[in-house]
Amino acid sequence: MEQQITIDKSGIWIVYFSGTGGVKRITEEFEKQLLEKKFFVTRHSLDMSSMNNQKDSYQQIINDTGLIILLYPVHAFDAPVPVFEWIGLLPHVPSLPVAVVSVSGGGEASLNKASRVRCIKALEKKGYTVFYETMMVMPSNWFIPTNDHLAIQLLRTLSQKTEQVVKKIISGSRQRTTPHFLIRIAAHLISRLEETGVKKFGQGLYASEECTACLWCVNNCPRENINMTDRIPRFGKKCMMCMRCIYGCPEQAIHATTGKWMVIKQGFSLSQLEKRMTGVEPDSLEKFKKDALWKGVIKYLSDNDEE
Ligand SMILES: Cc1cc2nc3c(=O)[nH]c(=O)nc-3n(C[C@H](O)[C@H](O)[C@H](O)COP(=O)(O)O)c2cc1C
Repeated sequence: MEQQITIDKSGIWIVYFSGTGGVKRITEEFEKQLLEKKFFVTRHSLDMSSMNNQKDSYQQIINDTGLIILLYPVHAFDAPVPVFEWIGLLPHVPSLPVAVVSVSGGGEASLNKASRVRCIKALEKKGYTVFYETMMVMPSNWFIPTNDHLAIQLLRTLSQKTEQVVKKIISGSRQRTTPHFLIRIAAHLISRLEETGVKKFGQGLYASEECTACLWCVNNCPRENINMTDRIPRFGKKCMMCMRCIYGCPEQAIHATTGKWMVIKQGFSLSQLEKRMTGVEPDSLEKFKKDALWKGVIKYLSDNDEE
């Protein structure tokens, strides 16, 4: 039998990346629940501004940490770039326990299963013990929007789903997945292809005449990739296609040229979704059961216990 990990009440370091707020909401729920259980929690965003401020103190944080929980959105069946940058900056620490929580729009279906493989390998190379991994689901901010009736159920069950995951993590029970090697290869190839796509996407971003030069995009880009010159936002080479500037622009003035099909036309906002669905009893899951596209989401919502 696999050895159980012992999680004590020493520090938990919650590290997360969130482009458009889905992972941030889950992270906040993790933090709230762990604080209620009297754990000492430090939360760290992988936006470049907070990474620059803190990267010199990673060794110090690690010294006071008994467990790391890493959360990130699945981007093309992989973890996004800031996760690998953060792992690259971590000191080698033999056996420090890590739980990896990926968050996707499609659930643990098909190629998404492979979305933790590369980052877990990178953590293990530095000596960390990844004892637990899982997938959580939030509304999709990419390509195909999640139906409102499913999306609102994802938000309304967030606290309960987090509770299940937190319980497993702090119990120290081992949960690891091994996706089929063909799935791993396919996911790997697609994510490498996506790297080129992301570059092109970033080069094609532009602001239309609705732009008021309010600086929202400049101040909120997680890669510090946008500068304002002559009241026009200029996009640099560090775009990672998180979609924050496009969906978050108060004037909806930022647009993509290459790869615009990946942007949800009507925008993406969790708070607007909640407003639209206030007082609405969502359609039952039964109604969506024949829709292969949302298989992973239905499974996630139907499971009383995660996995
Ligand atoms: C560039 C990009 C690629 C994505 N790729 C996938 C994917 O391969 N599978 C999936 O289920 N969801 C995918 N998504 C959806 C996100 O994983 C999902 O909506 C997540 O909740 C977004 O988190 P955030 O709001 O914190 O950024 C992708 C999103 C983006 C922006």
